[in-house]
Formats: sequence, structure tokens, C-alpha cells
Amino acid sequence: MGGESRSKKVIRVLFIASEAAPLVKAGGLGDVAGALPAALNRLGAVVGGASAEVRLVIPFYNSIKTSNISATFIRKFKVSTLNGAVEAGLFETSLSGVVTYLVSGAPVSESASIYGKDFKEDAEKFVFFSLACLKIPSLIGWKCDILHANDWHTAVAIHHLATAKKKNASLQTTRSVLTIHNLPFMGSGVDEALVKYKISPSNDDNLPNWGKTQPLPMGLAAADRIVAVSPTYAKEILTPEYGCDLQDFLRKRSGHLTGILNGIDVESWDPATDPALKFNFAVSNFTTRSQNKRALLAEFGFPVESDVPLLALVSRFDWQKGIDIIIAGLRAMKNFAWRVILLGTGERNLEQACRDLEDEMPGKVRAAILFDVQLSRRIYAGADLLLMPSRYEPCGLSQMYAMRYGCLPIARATGGLADTVSDPLSSTAPTGFLFPNADASSFITALKRALRLYKKRAFWQAMQFNAMSRDFSWSVSARNYLDLYTQLSENSSIMSEP
Ligand code: ADP
Ligand code: GLC
Repeated sequence: MGGESRSKKVIRVLFIASEAAPLVKAGGLGDVAGALPAALNRLGAVVGGASAEVRLVIPFYNSIKTSNISATFIRKFKVSTLNGAVEAGLFETSLSGVVTYLVSGAPVSESASIYGKDFKEDAEKFVFFSLACLKIPSLIGWKCDILHANDWHTAVAIHHLATAKKKNASLQTTRSVLTIHNLPFMGSGVDEALVKYKISPSNDDNLPNWGKTQPLPMGLAAADRIVAVSPTYAKEILTPEYGCDLQDFLRKRSGHLTGILNGIDVESWDPATDPALKFNFAVSNFTTRSQNKRALLAEFGFPVESDVPLLALVSRFDWQKGIDIIIAGLRAMKNFAWRVILLGTGERNLEQACRDLEDEMPGKVRAAILFDVQLSRRIYAGADLLLMPSRYEPCGLSQMYAMRYGCLPIARATGGLADTVSDPLSSTAPTGFLFPNADASSFITALKRALRLYKKRAFWQAMQFNAMSRDFSWSVSARNYLDLYTQLSENSSIMSEP
């Protein structure tokens, strides 16, 4: 049967990203790169279809070098520049069973953190890394069918693929996919690095001029397929409100743009087994959950009264996330009964605003200005409501972790939040609360609604059960990515522009 030989086809995918959990994580991109390759490898082949062999590449940051992971040195190689070559090193390790390459070199090791304070500081590191990634298939003798890049950090690899193909037989038939996790972060300020590494600007006339020398637009113009991390975000970026001045360009590419919702790693994020929790729980022993709330209240020096609703924020502190909306909203709601834990780091003024709120309302507010994954897990397991008034949210993973741990999101209806949270006003199986506008009054209206429903204990618990029972696993999304890879590798005619 023809189907039999096709079912044996293995699509080789080089998945390149700036972070991958648990090795290195600053936000949701790290979670995705840490979980999606493994989910794709686990899928196996469907009848008559292909399977994927995904290998991951991330920079060999100093923080990984000083952790106790074991990495095998493979070989040295060079990335050329206008003024001589920069030496690179290729190492191999394994991440959740995925063959993972780590790329070292001065531009990576000279950088103090994963992301610096601006794109310029990160420019050379990620241009160097992107070009190094393109060399890996021939260095290891591995034909790459799909180059899958993520966000601006690795988009230059897609832009440069056409040029690299000319010198590199392992890339000759390689197709490319670029996933947009966060459109506004385009990598402006890399001009010097592009010149140094001999990267010519994009010549796509559909791009605005400013975009021809910024990594994300350059990659978007060259990619065979573009993925946004939720169906709603894929539509939103075609509008002036969310398109960051690329909406006209993206509309022209919309035949090659699709939305695939992120999943979460349901094994690592399982309240029944999570070692970060003192009291593991599931729907079947749900009463145990309240012990996590009591432990969390005690940890933050609150009175251990579990009937006062405990709100939480777990977030990067960035304009995107609407932290200012939370602060204004909570200030206006100070006479209501609630307590809040604000966990996050980022923009200094937002960190300070959270500390100020704690000083103002010491009986109600705790500001935990740190990045602490174990604490985030205890918060999802113990808090009642997660606050996510995002101005835009390409997908959002925090709300999915929260729901899986029985903590109901109050979220702005945008991007992946609209795609994953079901509100009692519009759903018979609600899992959280949605509000329409990114402003304090819209947030307050939803918070009041949630606080009223919190008193209806049976209804609330039914919502928690709905939330915990929703399937947020990668299985469906990984299948969608595999379908995309399959289309690309089987049908080159769909690659041509309309
Ligand atoms: P984004 O990628 O835009 O930051 P996501 O919701 O997709 O948003 O992913 C955020 C991830 O980072 C989640 O895993 C969340 O739990 C985690 N996170 C955010 N802030 C912190 C923090 N201060 N400490 C620990 N984890 C955090
Ligand atoms: C970005 C987005 C977030 C998304 C994450 C992973 O950082 O802000 O919404 O969940 O990437 O795709």
C-alpha cells in the first residue's frame, strides 16, 4: 500500500529558540521550546502520515554552563564576519529525551543574562546564534527538512536560509516555519550586528522600509509558513491595533499564516504529582487543595483564613501585562474582602508600584519581586483567582497552569486568553472570567462578578472542576504543527506566493 511507505516518512526538524525550560526560562517561550519538541517526537506517525524527529538548539548561556547538566562537546566551528571569523562550539545534551544542541561562543558567553536591557545589547548574541544554527545540519551530517525558528532572536536564520542553502547541501530542500510568540519584539537595533555578520536586508517590497533590517520582519518575509501562538492572535495581528505596523504586510501573507494554540506540559504541571507542592491534589481529592491555600497564606504572613478570596499575579512586569491596570483596580477595590500576592519582575516602575501598593495596604497585599518557578507553582495551587488584564496576549500559559491547578483566571478577552478561558456569561462549562477592555473599570467589573460568585461555593467548585478537567496538553497543538510540517515537506507547490 502506498500509505505504508508514506507512513515511514520522518520529517527532520531543527527547532531553534533563545530559551528552553527547564534549562533556561524567562517566560512562556521557554516553556514552549521545552515542551513542544518532545511532544512532537512522542506523536509518532499517524496512519498514512509522517512523523517528526525534532532536535532543539539553544545558546550555551553561562547559567547553563554553571548548572550541573552534562553536555558532550561535539566540535568547534566558525561563524564568519566582515573582520574575521568568530569561533563557536557545539555541545549536545538531552532535554526531556530531545537531542538538544548548545551553541557556545564569545557573543553568548560575554552576555550577562539571557536578555539584556535592550535589543542592541542582545543583537550580536542572537545574530551569531542564528547563523551558527544554520551550520549545525552539515556539521552533524543531518539533513534538515524544516527549520523552525521562534521570535526575533532566531528569525535571522530563516532570512539567511536561502543564502546558506547555496553552500550547504544539508539545507538544500529545507523549508522554514517562524512562530510569532510576541510580535512587538522585532529586534530593532541590530543593524551593526547585521552588517558585521554580512547579512543583507530583506528585499521584500511588501515590508515597510524600517522592517527590512529588523530580524522578525526579515524572517516573516522569508518564512514558508508563519504561525501565531493562538487562533485569535493570528487574526488580531492583521489589524492596526495589534499589527505593530506590519498588519498590511501580514495581510498579504495571510495565506501562509495560521494560529496554533500553545499547550502546556501536563506531566510537569500536574497538581497530583508536583513536588513543589506540600499537598498534592486532584479533582478526586479536591478538599486537599485548601491546605495549599493555607500554607501559602502562612508563607506570606497573612492570617490563615481560607474564606477570604486570595488573588494572585504571576507575570513578567511589562506594559503588555497590564500590571498598572491591576494596581489601579485593586486600589479602587480596597474596601472589598480580598488578599493578593503579586509575583513578578521586570520594569522597575512596575516593581516599585507593587511595593508601594503593599506599603499602602499591608493587610491585603504582598509584593514578591522575584522570578521563582517553585513559588509560582505554589501560588497556582493555593490562590483562588489569577489576574491577567493583558493589553495583548499572543497565547499566555499562566492562565492554563492556573486552571489546571484550580485557580480561576480573570483575564482580558484577547489572544490566547480568549481562546482558553470560558466565562459563565457565555459558557455552560465556565473556567474563569473574561472582560473586554484593557482598563481598570472593565477589570473591576469582572473582579466584582468573580467575588460575588466566589460566595456561591458549589458553583465556584464546579468552575474549578471544569478548569482542572480541561485538556490543555500539547497533543492537539503538536498534531497541528506536524500537519503543517507535512504539508510543507510534501507539497512544494503550496510554497509559492499567491
Ligand atoms: P510570557 O511568555 O508573555 O511571559 P506566558 O503566560 O506565556 O507569558 O508565560 C509566562 C511563564 O513565565 C509562565 O510559565 C509563568 O508561570 C512564568 N512566570 C512569569 N513570571 C514569573 C515569576 N516571577 N516567577 C516564576 N515564573 C514566572
Ligand atoms: C510570549 C507571549 C505569551 C505566549 C508565550 C509563549 O512571550 O507573550 O502570550 O504564551 O510567548 O508562546
